[in-house]
Amino acid sequence: MPAVETRNLEKHFGDVKAVDGVGLLSSEEEFLVLLGPSGCGKTTLLRMIAGLEKPSAGDVFIGEKLVTHLPPRARGIAMVFQSYALYPHMTVFKNIAFPLKAMGMPKEEMKKKVEWSANMLGILHLLQRKPRELSGGERQRVALARALVREPNVFLLDEPLSNLDAKLRATAREELYRFQKDVAITTIYVTHDQVEAMGMGDRIAVMNAGRVCQLGKPEEVYSDPADTFVASFLGSPPMNLVEFEDRIAGFRPESFLPQQMHEGGGELLSLTFHVSRVENLGADRLVYGKLGERFNLSPVIANLPTSFTNYKIETSQTYDFAVPRNNIKFFNSQTGLREEPIPL
Ligand SMILES: Nc1ncnc2c1ncn2[C@@H]1O[C@H](COP(=O)(O)OP(=O)(O)OP(=O)(O)O)[C@@H](O)[C@H]1O
Ligand SMILES: [Mg+2]
Repeated sequence: MPAVETRNLEKHFGDVKAVDGVGLLSSEEEFLVLLGPSGCGKTTLLRMIAGLEKPSAGDVFIGEKLVTHLPPRARGIAMVFQSYALYPHMTVFKNIAFPLKAMGMPKEEMKKKVEWSANMLGILHLLQRKPRELSGGERQRVALARALVREPNVFLLDEPLSNLDAKLRATAREELYRFQKDVAITTIYVTHDQVEAMGMGDRIAVMNAGRVCQLGKPEEVYSDPADTFVASFLGSPPMNLVEFEDRIAGFRPESFLPQQMHEGGGELLSLTFHVSRVENLGADRLVYGKLGERFNLSPVIANLPTSFTNYKIETSQTYDFAVPRNNIKFFNSQTGLREEPIPL
């Protein structure tokens, strides 16, 4: 299945640069996630790849073919929108068959295709129902089946799970991931949810203000962020960022632990930690507080696994914490970009 490429893609709406020079190259059959906050240009970028939005500048290639000036139907793509709409008066069968009918496909062939697609999504038993007789997750699968039925070369999915509740989302995420691996169709998936991105993406393109800040595997963007935006967008709670001289030092809350809890031989940086609040979240214990004078009383968060239950932490107390030195990332305090380490 062909890869998708954008070169210097831009879209301006009046003064707003919704997409500001994006160059992306997906691999074949890849699950590529566009992740970023609301308004950063994800939908606009996806719509330009689909051919639904005309770029102000730049080009789109699908399978090395220049498609910038081709209409959506000539691009071999299928898109599922943020607010996918099923036809309420039609059965699931008719909903899925709709794009094939529009193409004038013979009845027998159409039936086979619909059943194949419904089978891939595990909704064969629902074909005679109407959308209102389905759960949110089932409707979701109908929308995906309808997109799949045309056997696209590329799937473009814009927050397709956004109207499911948290529990259903987790199941749907798992299903969608397996489905994408089964059909092996190159997929570009838009979300502002980092859990979805980390859990499903082969790679993640982290976007901010119309640009891609970093493109990499989930573990790369998480542990090796290219700038402070990526560092603080990923992770819950996000990376601690502490100003020091002309740098910002960043370390993840889960690597910031009581001195004696660190295992292994790595060299540690000791830090004084004045605790102001403790939050027990079941599997994790989040500890909020401030570092000592040397780091200007910067606010930081520690994330302790609750397996450390014998380590008592109380508010308004001061503790000796530490971070492994090789877990500390450095950023330029002006530009926010990654920098060489300095001694702390
Ligand atoms: N048709 C339009 N006319 C004017 N401005 C637009 C239009 N479409 C989008 N924008 C602006 O472009 C920017 C990017 O919008 P876009 O919909 O791509 O964001 P998004 O990343 O998909 O956000 P969300 O996560 O909220 O869906 C926003 O500032 C938005 O207001
Ligand atoms: Mg959007």
